[in-house]
Amino acid sequence: MHTKTLKVNVTLAREKTHYQIHVGGGLLSEAGGITRQALGSQSRRTAVVSNRRVFDLYGAKLIGSLRSNGFQITSWLMGDGERFKSLGTAEKALQFFSNAGLERTDAVIALGGGVVGDLAGFAAATYLRGIPLIHVPTTVTAQIDSAIGGKTGVNLPHSKNAIGSFHQPKAVIIDVETIETLPRRELVGGWCEAVKNGAISGRKLFEQTVTFLSQKQSIASPQLPGLIKSHCEFKAGIVAGDERESAMRTDKQSRRVLNFGHTIGHALEAVTNYKRFRHGEAVGHGMHVAAEISKSMGLLAASELKLLCDGINLCGPLPPADDLDPNEILRLTQADKKRVSGNVQWVLLEEIGRPRIVADQEIPRRLIRDAVRRGLKSTC
Ligand code: NAD
Ligand code: GLY
Repeated sequence: MHTKTLKVNVTLAREKTHYQIHVGGGLLSEAGGITRQALGSQSRRTAVVSNRRVFDLYGAKLIGSLRSNGFQITSWLMGDGERFKSLGTAEKALQFFSNAGLERTDAVIALGGGVVGDLAGFAAATYLRGIPLIHVPTTVTAQIDSAIGGKTGVNLPHSKNAIGSFHQPKAVIIDVETIETLPRRELVGGWCEAVKNGAISGRKLFEQTVTFLSQKQSIASPQLPGLIKSHCEFKAGIVAGDERESAMRTDKQSRRVLNFGHTIGHALEAVTNYKRFRHGEAVGHGMHVAAEISKSMGLLAASELKLLCDGINLCGPLPPADDLDPNEILRLTQADKKRVSGNVQWVLLEEIGRPRIVADQEIPRRLIRDAVRRGLKSTC
């Protein structure tokens, strides 16, 4: 089904440029034209980076559209999974670009979820000191978050996203129909990230998101492109205001607010050796804990906590977390990569849509531990 293409501008004052996010159903068949428009007539070649699963589903359509717009195409498939978001994989991608003779005017096209996008983006950022990049995200998480804003990177063995670079894409092409083939748990995790965006961005996006989820609309719903567009607008606004995530900012428009639910989320992933939770599922639990802390500190009303919990529940079932040791989880929060001057910065809530960044030392330890215990109960 082809729907009208919706567009969102991402303005980058620091780089004195902008790019467009294109959102629609059936947009893969227009990806070649959009890419040509974004790269200009000089561009000859593109390297499509994907993984086997996504490439088998969507590679042919994308490549057909690129070819009919005059591009020569070469493709390279990486392994599927977070463990392949590594320096070793990046080196293989870079070697492939070099062997294929990619030049500075050629481009990398990332077709896949956040793992493919982050890895391909990092390779594009570093090959010949940076060549053009187009994102074609195929998961909810990638469509509403990772493909927008220029963060690219790879993991170190015990440190997620420890190596990376800002490299903004020339365009983002979102075919919302691609999420129809997502496994159920990937959808649950993606919707948790959508509820997170809503919870920190003003009530309207939160309500739009929970309305969509509560109507149990099929993925093919006509409401979907509009919902994804609203999330892209939110992310684009945050990125425009804080392109490089200034470490010292603690205001509500800071890019750091996107970390809501992530302090506990990352600790849950680490304590279970990245095996039990999809990232978004861990963030689902993490939002509940952050909201419990907010309530215990007198920042958040019980009714707002309930609204948030209802939103998280609508995403689908989360793997249980109530068997995990709160002390161990708290210890792991101290490894949070977003510490400032040795302090974890918690993103808390004053109400749905109003985040507040609070330094760890301002919150009693016991209050956090009790909130972790309550927040990790299997039901929100
Ligand atoms: P993912 O990329 O691992 O994709 C999840 C699974 O879905 C994979 O097995 C993938 O092959 C499969 N898949 C992807 N699209 C599919 C489709 N349309 N149909 C069927 N299967 C499909 O996971 P993700 O949640 O998209 O991304 C997580 C990654 O994104 C993490 O590495 C995280 O650090 C990163 N991330 C980055 C940013 C950023 O700003 N750069 C933001 C958020 C997350
Ligand atoms: N996903 C967090 C960010 O883009 O800043």
